[in-house]
Amino acid sequence: MNAFYQRSELYAAFFSPSQEIRGSIDRVVRRHLGRKPRRVLDPACGPGLWLAHFLQSGAEVAGSDLEESAIALAAKRLPKRGAKVLVGDMRRPPDELGTDFDCVINLDNSLGHLADYMDVAEHFASIRMRLAPRGIYVVGLALREDGDAIDTGVVYERGPVDIEGGGFAALRTESLGLQPRTRCERIRQITITANVKDTPAVIAEQYDLLTFTMEMLRDILVAAGGFEVLGCHDATDEALPAKPFRKRAGDVVLVLRRSDAAGGKPALRGEKPAPRREKPAPRREKPSPRRKASKR
Ligand SMILES: C[S@@+](CC[C@H](N)C(=O)[O-])C[C@H]1O[C@@H](n2cnc3c(N)ncnc32)[C@H](O)[C@@H]1O
Repeated sequence: MNAFYQRSELYAAFFSPSQEIRGSIDRVVRRHLGRKPRRVLDPACGPGLWLAHFLQSGAEVAGSDLEESAIALAAKRLPKRGAKVLVGDMRRPPDELGTDFDCVINLDNSLGHLADYMDVAEHFASIRMRLAPRGIYVVGLALREDGDAIDTGVVYERGPVDIEGGGFAALRTESLGLQPRTRCERIRQITITANVKDTPAVIAEQYDLLTFTMEMLRDILVAAGGFEVLGCHDATDEALPAKPFRKRAGDVVLVLRRSDAAGGKPALRGEKPAPRREKPAPRREKPSPRRKASKR
């Protein structure tokens, strides 16, 4: 369990989406869906920051997260009408959240917190079942190849900021680079707090995030039943500029659609067999995002 994600007020204070990233996500969604979304699911919703955004723009929203405290805060903040949040694992979000979502959103490399590639395939398969026929999945992940190296050092630094309920806190997140054996990116994070209720003065954590080679991602999407890639955007820039979907694209936001949907490019359909369980599955102490990977 991750101590930072368990302190949802801290997460919300540091990672409330800026106006710029909200506008960029709206643009990306509208471009690929052709309109505003009507039903939105965030399967790792934390305190529901993106759910609140889509609710405001008129969608019905649903979300789940492993952390009870995150769901408790989401339930407290979101109005009852039009929003449903439940504790649940993104490998298979709770059935009670429903299906027929025209937009599923899962940003900040939350997917990287899953333990291994089999979990990721299970996740994509269950998201696929919950999507409306022409619905889109907007997902943040990292595309890296074997042997890639990435810059190490600070990827996110912020604060002190005021915390809802009292007190203040500062956060610093560093990348220790890719682990050669697992190709996971190792993240180290320190949160310092003052007068924040039920929270230690220092939370120091380290965790690993899955990254994906292009081949693995293709295998996974095929094993999950088939998705096509509609768009690829640079996640290190809040403007989310489009970038080529290719090997070593780095931190990206992909827009996917079930490949059995009418139209679109059959980009990844039927190319490869099932994914390999390559990673030794550290059930990791989690937390954290990389909203501004460009700060690295
Ligand atoms: C980077 S945060 C993203 C929160 C939210 N989607 C957002 O963009 O603000 C990652 C979230 O993933 C959650 N998480 C990690 N593993 C999970 C899993 N297996 N199932 C559901 N949620 C998970 C964490 O508890 C955390 O709230």
